[in-house]
Amino acid sequence: MGMEHEAASAIDAYLQQHETKSLLRFITCGSVDDGKSTLLGRLLYDSKLLFDDQLAALEGDSLRHGTQNGELDFALLVDGLSAEREQGITIDVAYRFFSTDRRKFIVADCPGHEQYTRNMATGASTADLAVMLVDARKGLLTQTRRHTYICALLGIRHVLLAVNKMDLVDYAEDVFRPIEVAYRELAASMGIEQVTAVPLSALRGENVSSRSRNLGWYDGPSLLEHLETVQLVRAADAIGFRLPVQWVCRPDQNFRGYAGQVVAGSIAPGDEVVVLPSGVRSKVARIVTADGDLPHAGRGDTVTLTLADERDISRGDVIAAAVRPPQVADQFAAHLLWMGESPLLPGRSYWLKIGTRTVSAQVTEIKHKVDVNTQESLAAKRLELNEVGYCNISLDHAIAFESYEHCHALGAFILIDRQSNGTVAAGTLNFALRRADNIHWQHLDVDRTARARIKGQAPACLWFTGLSGSGKSTVANLVEKRLHALGYHTYMLDGDNVRHGLNRDLGFTAEDRVENIRRVAEVAKLMVDAGLIVLVSFISPFRSERRMARDLFAEGEFSEVFMDTPLAICEQRDAKGLYAKARAGEIRNFTGIDSPYEPPEHAEVHLHAAERSAEAMAQQVVDVLLGQG
Ligand code: ADX
Repeated sequence: MGMEHEAASAIDAYLQQHETKSLLRFITCGSVDDGKSTLLGRLLYDSKLLFDDQLAALEGDSLRHGTQNGELDFALLVDGLSAEREQGITIDVAYRFFSTDRRKFIVADCPGHEQYTRNMATGASTADLAVMLVDARKGLLTQTRRHTYICALLGIRHVLLAVNKMDLVDYAEDVFRPIEVAYRELAASMGIEQVTAVPLSALRGENVSSRSRNLGWYDGPSLLEHLETVQLVRAADAIGFRLPVQWVCRPDQNFRGYAGQVVAGSIAPGDEVVVLPSGVRSKVARIVTADGDLPHAGRGDTVTLTLADERDISRGDVIAAAVRPPQVADQFAAHLLWMGESPLLPGRSYWLKIGTRTVSAQVTEIKHKVDVNTQESLAAKRLELNEVGYCNISLDHAIAFESYEHCHALGAFILIDRQSNGTVAAGTLNFALRRADNIHWQHLDVDRTARARIKGQAPACLWFTGLSGSGKSTVANLVEKRLHALGYHTYMLDGDNVRHGLNRDLGFTAEDRVENIRRVAEVAKLMVDAGLIVLVSFISPFRSERRMARDLFAEGEFSEVFMDTPLAICEQRDAKGLYAKARAGEIRNFTGIDSPYEPPEHAEVHLHAAERSAEAMAQQVVDVLLGQG
């Protein structure tokens, strides 16, 4: 899901080497205790793709550690490779490549521990199949259930159940069969129908790449045989041509091409296409590559298309088959796996990246979160690290999309924190909640300029932020009085007052404060539209939401006024007695005490309340405003 840049070039190089063989991408699930590292090491060893020096080191290590009675310890090999890898700060997935005469393989190996759900999801997002490892002595565990759920969530439809350590249960069929039956039932309940169960011993190399005589009652394939021969059905095979535009190539006046990777379907010159979200139609003129024009292109090809007509197309648009185009929408139901250190707060704005497109997005509602161990739905107001939620998402621009089930490339997305630019969630789109083209903008004849003109003023929003008791409202009041005296049309939105009406349903948790600010920012915007000078006086403790408010306004319309009063002074004044209560533990989540305040970094007006009178500060604000015209 876009988190694997570093692995990408290594993968490309590998793919070129083995161009002609088909590729299987799989993920291994299970823990070190189940024998995961041993199994992987055995597979790599048997496929003879280990480099000689790695092998020599392994033999040395195994002897030194004296592990496994002088047998090679394959776990050492895999763990050693893991330590060498650096997958960015948060995602720890190791990709390994190997091949046999029949197929080439990329295996994603993810730490199996509980808090690494996000790692597993990263690996699973690109996999065609999962190898689910269980210990024959233990059978199915909570972890098996969790891993299967995440695989199902990320669209994996094939599972190879590897029942390991059969040597420790005397190779008994009556140990294996009940595990197989229970697992088929579990997988089916999550929508995974294609299960192949293989009894094996990774340590002894039985049924890994060759059959075991000790498991004579088993007549299925070995693990590797199955991986080499399994027929895969890929979701994207069922839909028409789709190409998310990566960039527009315009070397000179005469050439305009649209470059990107075909993520579904195929295309040939002359084919009718539609460009989304705009909906304009054209025909493919040429399919250009570095090695000359192609008669057709298919899934996985990176090409540059030229069209028969001049069209306004930019990065992020999707060129699709005109006959069965994808839907365009701006609100979705989606599953989200939260990967951020700080929680998901509904109402907060994040960047959403899908295909080659990045738009601004908000989670408008968490319908429920899912306990990944039991698949129970639980009520939730926020999502914490590694939690999975089913949510409604709203975008500020409509996009072309596919449900994840039909096309991973146009149905999978990530959310990016706007402050840190870090990836905070991976998600899958389920379906559109409303078609963007069903809700229209109504044209209004009396527009904002007309409304402002009649008032003879430039509308503006003055956004006061600061701690409770910092004096925001006092100064904002004085500012409004002065502006009013000068004949300006103003309105004051004050936190305490708005919380008695429009926002009476909100408290002081982080998620409620986000919604509090979202609503008041939207109201302030309407008032600016109406031609007013609006003063907003809310603690508005989070940078993200002040940023969101700013983004609603035109350049120069919004001014942040930071009431910079030290906590000690606010607390000493304590006009409402709230600080005393907060210290006594009678009020929770009190700003500055047990709820954070993030001071502005670039406020237009910075008021140092400790040094100046309220009147002087009010004049400072009025001067700045009048200076802006
Ligand atoms: S905001 O954080 O969501 O922007 P807002 O400005 O609407 O807060 O409301 C803050 C006012 O609510 C404070 O001035 C104070 O009078 C009152 N209040 C009651 N409980 C709290 C609390 N836990 N934290 C901060 N303010 C509180």
